Amino acid sequence: MSEARGAATFRTSAAAYDRHIGRYAPALAAGLIARAGLEPGSRALDVGCGPGALTAALAGLLGADEVAAVDPSEPFARACAERVPGARVEVAAAEALPFADASFDAALSQLVVNFMTDAPAGVGEMRRVTRPGGTVASAVWDYAGGMTLLRRFWDAAVALDAGAADLDEGRSMPWCRPDELERLWRDAGLDDVRSGELVVEAGYEGFDDLWQPLESGVGPAGAYAAGLPAERRERLREGLRSRLDVGEEPFRLTARAWWVAGRVG
Ligand SMILES: C[S@@+](CC[C@H](N)C(=O)[O-])C[C@H]1O[C@@H](n2cnc3c(N)ncnc32)[C@H](O)[C@@H]1O
Repeated sequence: MSEARGAATFRTSAAAYDRHIGRYAPALAAGLIARAGLEPGSRALDVGCGPGALTAALAGLLGADEVAAVDPSEPFARACAERVPGARVEVAAAEALPFADASFDAALSQLVVNFMTDAPAGVGEMRRVTRPGGTVASAVWDYAGGMTLLRRFWDAAVALDAGAADLDEGRSMPWCRPDELERLWRDAGLDDVRSGELVVEAGYEGFDDLWQPLESGVGPAGAYAAGLPAERRERLREGLRSRLDVGEEPFRLTARAWWVAGRVG
C-alpha cells in the first residue's frame, strides 16, 4: 500500500507541527467533540492523533483511561503518549486499526481523512471499531477556501511557480468538501449523516512566528517551502507575508474546517 500524498511530511518534529497546524487544533477539537455529541462516560478513539490535541481534549472530557489514539508517525504517537499520560496510544494507520469490533462509543479523526492512503477503508475501520449506536466523526480543512494560512500559502506559491498548482492542497486533496465527506460516510454504511462548518482562530506573535515552522518542512506546505533554493524560498516568504498583509506585530488568522458525523446502525 503506497502512502497518500503528504502523509510522510508528518514524520517530523511534534514541536514544529504544534507551531504550524497545531495552533488551531485545540479549538477545532472542542468543536468536533461538540458536533459528535460526546459526553462523559463514553469511550473514544482518536485516529491520526498527531501530537495529541484531540486526544488531550477527549481525555479532559472522558478521562485518559477512556481514550485511545493511533498515528502511523512514530514521533507524533510518542508526543501524544507524553502529552496524554494514561491514554492508550499505538503506532497504526486508520486502514488497519488494532482494536476489536465495537470497542468504542465514538471514533473521531481531525485533519486526517484526506491523508489516508485508502479513506473508504479507513472510515470503514472507524465504523467497525465503534459500537452500534455510536458515532464516527471527522473534520478536514477547507483547503480550497476558508483555511486562510494554507490558502494564502499556495496562492503565493503558484503566483511564483505555476508548477506548484499540482501541489496546492486546495486542488490535490481529496475528501475536502461537505458533499464528498457525506458520500464517504454513507458509503461506509453510516446512518444519520450530517455535516457543517467549524471556524476556528489562531494567534501569531508576528509573521516570523508563522513562517519559521514551515522552514522545518512540516506538512505539505512546509515540505514545499523547505525544498526551495534559498532565493526562491525568500520570494515565497515575502509573497505570503504580503498576501496575509501582516508584519512583525501580533495577528490572528481564521481557519474553516468541514465536519461530518454519522451513526453506526
Ligand atoms: C494534519 S495532521 C493532524 C493531526 C491531529 N489529528 C491534529 O488535529 O492536530 C495529519 C495526521 O494524519 C496522520 N496520518 C497520515 N496518514 C494516516 C493514516 N493512513 N491513518 C491515520 N493517520 C494518518 C499523520 O501522521 C498526521 O499525524
